[in-house]
Amino acid sequence: MSGENLLLTPIKIGAHTVPNRFAINAMECCDADADGNPSDRTYERYEKIFNGESSFINLEAITVQYDYISREHQLSIMGHNAKALEKFVAHLKAINPNTVFVFQLTHSGEISEPNFSKRCRVTKKPLYGYEDAELIGADEVDKIIDMFVESSKIAHACGADGVDLKFCHGYLGSQILRPYNRENWKYGGPWENRRRFAFDMTERVVKEVNDPNFVVGSKVSIFEGFPGGQGTAGPDSSLMDLTESIDLIKGLEERGAQYILQSAGSPSHTLALSQTDRNIPDHGYFHHYFQWVCRQNLKPETVVIGSDYTIYGSGKSAGAKKFQGVYPEENSLKFWGNKNIRDGVVDMVCLGRQSFADPAVAKKFREGREDEIKWCTACDNCIEFLIRQENVGCAVYNPPYVQRMKEIRAEKGLLKEKHT
Ligand SMILES: Cc1cc2nc3c(=O)[nH]c(=O)nc-3n(C[C@H](O)[C@H](O)[C@H](O)COP(=O)(O)O)c2cc1C
Ligand code: SF4
Repeated sequence: MSGENLLLTPIKIGAHTVPNRFAINAMECCDADADGNPSDRTYERYEKIFNGESSFINLEAITVQYDYISREHQLSIMGHNAKALEKFVAHLKAINPNTVFVFQLTHSGEISEPNFSKRCRVTKKPLYGYEDAELIGADEVDKIIDMFVESSKIAHACGADGVDLKFCHGYLGSQILRPYNRENWKYGGPWENRRRFAFDMTERVVKEVNDPNFVVGSKVSIFEGFPGGQGTAGPDSSLMDLTESIDLIKGLEERGAQYILQSAGSPSHTLALSQTDRNIPDHGYFHHYFQWVCRQNLKPETVVIGSDYTIYGSGKSAGAKKFQGVYPEENSLKFWGNKNIRDGVVDMVCLGRQSFADPAVAKKFREGREDEIKWCTACDNCIEFLIRQENVGCAVYNPPYVQRMKEIRAEKGLLKEKHT
C-alpha cells in the first residue's frame, strides 16, 4: 500500500468540501430533556465529537413526532424544539465549522416502546413480536411524510447542514420498504408502492427546503438479514436480492440525495449484522460488499459512506482479536479505510461505537498521534445502556458510565436478550 493516508484527503459532499474521509454515525443516547431538547449531557457528547475533526456528523435519531418513539428521552424536532436546536447547532459549529452536520430524522413505527409510547404497523400480518401495534393506513403515512418535510425545514432554519432521512435498521422507513409489507395499498405490495414513501419524501424535502447548500441523504439497510427484510427476494424469503436496495439508492439519488450512508441489519432483529459482534467479527466484511454495491450503482459525485468500521480498530485491539486468517496490520481501520477508498469500494468511513470510545480519531491521525487513540473494544456495553433505556456512554473509557454499568448489573442482573 502506498504511504499516503487517503483517510486524510478532502471530499465534496453536496456543495461542501470537507477535509477528511471520517464520518460519525448516528448514535442515540437517550439524554434529551423532557421537551426533547439537547441536555448538558447531549452538549458534552457532541462537543467531544466536533473537537474530533470528523468531516461528517450524523446527529443521532431525532424524532419528527413524540407519539411513537423507541427511547425515553429521545431528541425531537418539532416547532417547540427550534430555538434549542438553533442554539445547539451554533454552539457546535463554533467548535468546528469544517464539518457537514446532518440530523437523522426518524419515526419508530412498530418498534416503538409500548411501556411509554404507542406502536403502529403498516402490515396486516404483524411482524412476529409486534402483534400489539395498531395498523395505520395511507392517510396516516401521508401525514408522517408531512412531518418529515416540516422537520427538515426546521433543521434548515436551525442551521443544520442537512438531513438524513432514515430508511434503515427496522424503523418506519424500513417497515414500509421491506418486502414483508406485502398487501397492495398506496405504500405497500409492489415495489413501486413500497418505495413511494422514501421517494416522495426525498423529492418533497429537496423541493420544499429549496437550498442547494442543504445536504439531503439517507442511511439505508442494504440487507436487513431476516426473511422479508430489506434486500430479500420476497415477503417470506430469506434469500438476499439487492435489486430493490439498488433501485432505492438510485431513485434517492435521482430525487436529489447527495450521499448514501450504507448500513445493514436491524438492531431489534439482527443486531450482530448492524453492528459487528466481536465474537463473530466476519460480518464486518459483508458491509464492504454492500458499500461496493452502492459505489458501483451511484454517480461519482454521490458520496458513499460506509458503516461498521469500528470493529477493526488498530488491527490488534480487543474488538479485532477474533478475526481469523488475516494479518493484524492488514486488518485495521486505517488499512481497510485506505484500501476501500483506493479500490472504489467506499468514499468515507463511518464510526459508530468508536465515536463513544474516542471521537478524535480523525484529529489524532492528522496530528500523527495514532498511537494515542483509545480503540473501542466492541464489548457492546453501550448498546446495553440503550436496550435498558438508560443514558448511553462508553462503559470502558468514560468513568461515570463504567460506574453506572456496574450499578445497573448489580441492581438488575445481566442482560437477558441482546437486541434493541
Ligand atoms: C448505543 C447505540 C446507539 C445507536 N443509535 C443509532 C441511531 O440513532 N441511528 C442509527 O441509524 N444507528 C444507530 N446506531 C447504529 C450505529 O449508528 C452504527 O450503524 C452501528 O453501531 C455500526 O457501526 P460501528 O461498528 O461503527 O459501531 C446505534 C448504535 C449504538 C451502539
Ligand atoms: S462500551 Fe464497549 S463497545 Fe461501547 S464504545 Fe465503549 S468500548 Fe466500544
